[in-house]
Amino acid sequence: MSEKIIVKNVVKIFGSKPKLALNKLKSGLSKEKILQQTGQTIGVNNVSFSVNEGEFFVIMGLSGSGKSTLVRCLNRLTTPTSGQIIIDKEDIVQYDKHQLREFRQKKVGMVFQNFGLFTHRTVLENVEYGLEIRKVDKEKRRNIALQALKSVGLKGWEEKMPNELSGGMQQRVGLARALANDPDILLMDEPFSALDPLIRREMQLELLEIQSKLKKTIIFITHDINEAFRLGDKIVVMKDGEIVQQGTPEEILNHPSDEYIEDFVKSIDRTKVIQAKNIMQKPNALVSITAGVRSAIHEMEENSLSSVFVIGKDRVLKGIVTIDDCVKAVKNKHSSLTELLRHDYYETTEDEYIENLLEDATKSKYPIVVLDNNRKLLGIIVRTTILAGLLPTNGYDSN
Ligand SMILES: Nc1ncnc2c1ncn2[C@@H]1O[C@H](COP(=O)(O)OP(=O)(O)OP(=O)(O)O)[C@@H](O)[C@H]1O
Ligand SMILES: [Mg+2]
Repeated sequence: MSEKIIVKNVVKIFGSKPKLALNKLKSGLSKEKILQQTGQTIGVNNVSFSVNEGEFFVIMGLSGSGKSTLVRCLNRLTTPTSGQIIIDKEDIVQYDKHQLREFRQKKVGMVFQNFGLFTHRTVLENVEYGLEIRKVDKEKRRNIALQALKSVGLKGWEEKMPNELSGGMQQRVGLARALANDPDILLMDEPFSALDPLIRREMQLELLEIQSKLKKTIIFITHDINEAFRLGDKIVVMKDGEIVQQGTPEEILNHPSDEYIEDFVKSIDRTKVIQAKNIMQKPNALVSITAGVRSAIHEMEENSLSSVFVIGKDRVLKGIVTIDDCVKAVKNKHSSLTELLRHDYYETTEDEYIENLLEDATKSKYPIVVLDNNRKLLGIIVRTTILAGLLPTNGYDSN
């Protein structure tokens, strides 16, 4: 995977004497002390990270931690005081006006928290805006905008004014406007935080779907840890302008680097971020459909089980057999497993959240099976693992 964005030692200082503050920063003075002594505010303090192409990269942190400042550096709405931002091998900090215009029009799109729509333009005209600036001809830009609106589920709303739409819909317009320019990189500054929880959830899922289709590189800001963990391939946590930890959601969840992040992690609803693949196990025992009743009994006895899953070629799940059925079959001199197969177990996919498995887990006699699209058996989830997954620490590593 190639590195799309490399941020190197970026510092952003607000105030009229940034050089003075920068020197103090280099000599190790804190953000607070520098503010006291110089009146300069450290927005972003020596931040470095890289983002791979197509990655969903989340920046998380409390209010004032520097998230917006950092993301504004990435499209040069703000110019860093020092440091480099390499995008597609070019340092955009060095861009002149002309290069910047081109960069903003073609390579990067931004979606804002409060939608940032033009109230006097129709939905369609809002989405066309970027293309209009780029002087794309009328018919072409109309078609692109219609397509973008369709892709966010707003077909039929083109001629409405923004204030005739709900918050969720307005944010879809914001997203469509960014997508219409077909940028490689989408910057999203708390795009869903003004939305109510249900709509927000829906938008998150849609964004993931759009992402999987369009393969954009997304930088997404939030201060909602559940949102961060649900969406992010990688997460950085910021505090006082600095990055305090970066890693995958699993790494951060399992090894919070300090108390600040532990506090964040504590508030997380684990059922909403842990997926089937994180807690599924390899089954202790499996039998092949061709194996016969006696070897199924043997397998169950060996492993002290009262049932065992049966697979065919390529590990495709055929069903489950119970010890009682197998013993009866042997008595009746039946040897094939096929007639004994039961299917009263629950199935899921590896991306399913535990939240949605809880009910099945309590109802099911057997472990829940995790299957891929070809019904290949990837793993099983036993009830105790689901419950363990809900514990605040380390219910996570099993497989
Ligand atoms: N234009 C500005 N002038 C002066 N200081 C600024 C400016 N913009 C941001 N700051 C300061 O920089 C720091 C980081 O602010 P920033 O807006 O990046 O935080 P944030 O993490 O996005 O917060 P929020 O979650 O509230 O949006 C804060 O101390 C803030 O006061
Ligand atoms: Mg902000």
